[in-house]
Amino acid sequence: MQQTRRPLVEALKRCAGKGLTAFHTPGHLQGKAAPPALRQWWGRPVFEADLTEVPGLDDLHAPSGAIRKAQDLAADLAGAGRTFFLVNGSTAGIHAMLLACAGPGDKVILPRTVHRAVVAALVLSGAEPVFLPVRRLDDFDIPLPPPEAVYRESLVRNPDARALFTVYPDYYGVAVDLAALAGVAHEHGLPLLADAAHGVLFGYRPEMPAGAVACGADAVVESVHKRAGALTQAAWLHVQGNRLDRERVGQALLLLTTTSPSYLLLASLDAARRQLALSGPRICRRQVELAGDARQALSRLPGVRVLSEVHGGYRIDPTRLVLNFNQAGISGPAAAGVMYRSGVAVEMADCRNVVVLLSSAHGARDVKRMVKAAEAAAAARGRRGTICPRFPEAPPRRLTPREAWLAAAESVPVVKAPGRVSVEMVAVTPPGFPVLLPGEEVTHEVVSYLHAVRAAGLTVHGVADPELKSLRVVR
Ligand SMILES: Cc1ncc(COP(=O)(O)O)c(C=O)c1O
Repeated sequence: MQQTRRPLVEALKRCAGKGLTAFHTPGHLQGKAAPPALRQWWGRPVFEADLTEVPGLDDLHAPSGAIRKAQDLAADLAGAGRTFFLVNGSTAGIHAMLLACAGPGDKVILPRTVHRAVVAALVLSGAEPVFLPVRRLDDFDIPLPPPEAVYRESLVRNPDARALFTVYPDYYGVAVDLAALAGVAHEHGLPLLADAAHGVLFGYRPEMPAGAVACGADAVVESVHKRAGALTQAAWLHVQGNRLDRERVGQALLLLTTTSPSYLLLASLDAARRQLALSGPRICRRQVELAGDARQALSRLPGVRVLSEVHGGYRIDPTRLVLNFNQAGISGPAAAGVMYRSGVAVEMADCRNVVVLLSSAHGARDVKRMVKAAEAAAAARGRRGTICPRFPEAPPRRLTPREAWLAAAESVPVVKAPGRVSVEMVAVTPPGFPVLLPGEEVTHEVVSYLHAVRAAGLTVHGVADPELKSLRVVR
């Protein structure tokens, strides 16, 4: 297919430039009725392009024109059988892929440290999670996505599983051997679902891990907005083979997606796909080079360690830098705070680490500035923050996430919560891994961890009481 084309961008341009007198949504009427301050700041073209399903613009829910052509080009680029555009991030794609292959009581094998979108998908579908043990990486305390041997073992005990789910790569850029995992899934006739929210640039250079579709995953969701040029929220879901019912994926998306999808987001996917097709290898090469320079400079800083390899068959995304400040004795949030005050905004900070993303638009000066900011963080005096305890063991599961979600609930003082079954999905952000899932028993370890991370300045999401004085549990 001709990857130089941009069918949806062109269609949108044509429609925006027609000069029709509009009597339809959106209410800002191509900017004429927009709040003047926004119109001045964003300019008219943004509003003119913010159109709805007018003739010539196709329909995301029954695509047969410009949207379908744009999706087919994205599928062609990835080597997928079908690609769906998403306007609610990878989140919606994760919901759809799980809804398409698992119903109430169906087992899905997955790591416990998944993004909370996966937990939401378990609530929506009623699927029964079979959580895999997760090994954590020494000082970084990063949970590693389980390798294929762990899935293989779990399949012996759970031969009735309906799907395998993995993250590729995780938020720290750690990537399992996805092709080996696909091999295990397919030996058992099961689909492999891959959350590649952070993996859209994979496969464009040999220094990067291979793309998830090329590795054989049956469904792959990628947040194009995270590492490529699409607008925030814009993502896509690739499907290949016939282990997953494509019609059901489409139906699930119909259930989940707004009937007013933003054409700005959709067109940005079309443009980002073209950019990846034409310049992906160059963009990646530049990022890899810059990241290499940054790694070298950072490795000379006392007290700072940079994640550069993970043994056991893993690869890492070389363009994502995980800086560990344990030896400097400063917590991740405190280090990120010093970096921010030095003019550098990072992707995220967990208790021990700071994550930095390189872009091809960065220059040597930007890298130098980031390294200097990291140096300042390692040497900072005063408020050095608390390095929190290690991530707690997964609590025992008493109900499926959906059963707990639907159960009658009550709030109890946090001291009385251990032993009760949580209805809340409690996650510490960043990085957002759930500490407590709906259906899991509250443990003392979880409670003291939550208090410690709150004291360390991280946000606890999912609790009705943000002060953490009470938790909601099954009545
Ligand atoms: C591993 C992982 N999966 C899924 C998501 C959700 O992606 P999105 O924000 O595009 O919905 C995220 C977001 O940070 C993530 O880190």
